[in-house]
Amino acid sequence: MVHLKTPRDIEKIRASCRIAAEALLKVTEAVAPGVTTLKLDQVAETYIRKRGGVPSAKGYKGYPGSICISVNDEVVHGIPGERVLREGDLLAVDIAVKKEGYHGDMNVSLIVGEGSPEARRLLEVTRQAMEIGIQASLVGKRMGDIGHAIQRYVEGQGYSIVRDFCGHGIGKAFHEEPQLLHFGRPGTGWKIEPGAVFTVEPMVNQGGAEVRVLEDDWTAVTLDGSLSAQFEHTVVVMPEGPQVLSRFADLPF
Ligand code: MF3
Ligand code: CO
Repeated sequence: MVHLKTPRDIEKIRASCRIAAEALLKVTEAVAPGVTTLKLDQVAETYIRKRGGVPSAKGYKGYPGSICISVNDEVVHGIPGERVLREGDLLAVDIAVKKEGYHGDMNVSLIVGEGSPEARRLLEVTRQAMEIGIQASLVGKRMGDIGHAIQRYVEGQGYSIVRDFCGHGIGKAFHEEPQLLHFGRPGTGWKIEPGAVFTVEPMVNQGGAEVRVLEDDWTAVTLDGSLSAQFEHTVVVMPEGPQVLSRFADLPF
């Protein structure tokens, strides 16, 4: 069952998203060659707690980090640790925050320094895939319409869309219905109703769509070793159209 959100629910989710977005800004400011991913995790956790929130990921199904940082061929759920960032690394930084009982979730990918033209293009296509998904999030349409729009765009650009991880409803639970597959057939899946809140978070691989999970039981990497990127926003579908709850006029995401 999909929990449709009231205006009050929506403002609480937006407030948690605000903290996530600010923490993400702190993290992006701390990104530099020589910095460990653990340091970035600490920057995020410290900021989130200072704002009265808690990192949603911490302890979730035993997840050890406060945020997820997935570097280069890592697709999702990279655990922050002693890994040292290098010039040209492509990282996806995923931050989710809970405050006053409500979660907000977002993710941006960025490159340490300039990066290769290939990495920059992958990043832009992934960002655009997310935007296309957000724009397709309309009352009366179905989840499969969103997935199809994302998949068609990504594959048209010569990349593949990851199928093993999906977007999700969010609110009092970190992950709830509806599920958003970032691929699919038009006219299938749940018919979107006003007040639905879910994440749009496509993972796009430069090579094949296949992934495998490392020994740590969390980090998913591309099977072929190719680069992967991800962007994510938390979206509410209103009668007038989609509204991005994790986007703020004074923040760059
Ligand atoms: N934002 C990611 C998601 O929605 C973060 C997962 S947290 C983890 O799945 F604990 F599962 F890693
Ligand atoms: Co998410």
